[in-house]
Amino acid sequence: KLPSSVQVKEVGPRDGLQNEKTLINTNDKIELIDRLSETGLNYIEVTSFVHPKWIPQLADAVEVLKGIKRKKGITYGALVPNSKGLERAIEADIDEVSIFMSASEGHNKANINKSIVETYPVLKEVAEGALAAGKTVRGYISTVIACPYDGLVSPVQVARVAEKLFEMGVSEISLGDTIGVGVPTQVDALLEEMTRHFNTDQLAMHFHDTRGMALANVMASLAHGIQKFDSSIGGLGGCPYAHGASGNVATEDLLYLLEGMGIQTGIQQEKIVQTALYVEEKLGKPLHSKLVAVARGE
Ligand code: HMG
Ligand code: MG
Repeated sequence: KLPSSVQVKEVGPRDGLQNEKTLINTNDKIELIDRLSETGLNYIEVTSFVHPKWIPQLADAVEVLKGIKRKKGITYGALVPNSKGLERAIEADIDEVSIFMSASEGHNKANINKSIVETYPVLKEVAEGALAAGKTVRGYISTVIACPYDGLVSPVQVARVAEKLFEMGVSEISLGDTIGVGVPTQVDALLEEMTRHFNTDQLAMHFHDTRGMALANVMASLAHGIQKFDSSIGGLGGCPYAHGASGNVATEDLLYLLEGMGIQTGIQQEKIVQTALYVEEKLGKPLHSKLVAVARGE
C-alpha cells in the first residue's frame, strides 16, 4: 500500500548548484530560493558551509542565507562538514544542520578528506554544537548502493554508519545513491536491512538519476513505506568528488509521479516547473527534467 502523503525536500540550491561550473550570482541564488519558498515546499536545502576551495559555487553561503526571505513553515537547511562550517552556519542562523559522510572509505576520503573512523568525532562535535545552538540535525549517508572508488556497498555497512549518526542525535538520515547506479532490487535489499533497525519516518531517500533509475527507485522506496524524498529542481545536481554523479531526481518529475498516483505533497507542480525555467535561463543551458522538456513544447 502506498503512503497517502510524502514530504519532498528540495536540494537544488545546494546539490543542484554545487556541481555547476558557471558561478551564479548571489542575488540570483536568493531569487531562486525565494521563488522556491512560494511553491508550497516546506523544506529547502539552501547551501553548504564547506570549504570554499572545495566548492567555490557555494562560497557565498552566509550572504545567501542572510539575503533570502524566510517563509514561516519552511525549514531552511545546509550541509556542515565540521566545526568551522558550524560557526558560519550559526552566524547565518540556519534552521537545520546536515552532517554528511559516506558508507564507503573511497568516497568519504575523496569528498571530505578523512577515513570513516576519523570522520565520526568531527561530525559528533558538529551535531552536539548544532543541537546546543537549538538547531535540528539531519544526517546524510552517501554511496549507499555503490561507491565510484570501492564498488558495491553492503546494506549492513550502511546500517552501521546510520547507527553512529543516530547516536549523535540526528533526527533522520537521507540515504544517497550518489552516482545513480542502483536498481529497485538493490533499494529493496537496502531498505529491508534499514527497516530492521530504524523506523521509516527516520529515513529519507536521495536518488541521483545518472542512469534513469531514480523514479523506479522511488517506487521501490514507497513500497517500503518511505515518505521523504530529496529532489532537485530541473534535475540539477551531482557531487564533484564522485565521478559519474549527475543530477538528482527532478522535483517536478517526482511531483508528477506522486500526484498522478494520488499522493499528497502540498507543492504546486506548475510553480516548480516555472522556477526550473528560471534556473535554466540563469545557467544558460537546457535542464534535463522531463517536465521542463514538456513545458518547452518538446
Ligand atoms: P580539509 O582540507 O581536510 O580541512 O578539508 P582541514 O580541516 O584540514 O582545514 C584546512 C583549512 O580549511 C583550514 O584553514 C580551515 O580553517 C579551513 P587554514 O587553517 O589552513 O587557513 N576550513 C574551512 N573553511 C571554511 N569552511 C569550512 C572549513 N573547514 C576547514 N567548513 C573539508 C575538509 C571537509 C572541509 C573539505 O573536504 C570539504 O569542504 N569537503 C566538502 C566537499 C563537498 O561539499 N562535497 C559535496 C557535498 S556531499 C554530496 O554532494 C553528497 C550528498 O548530496 C548525498 C549523496 O548524493 O550521496 C549530500
Ligand atoms: Mg547528492
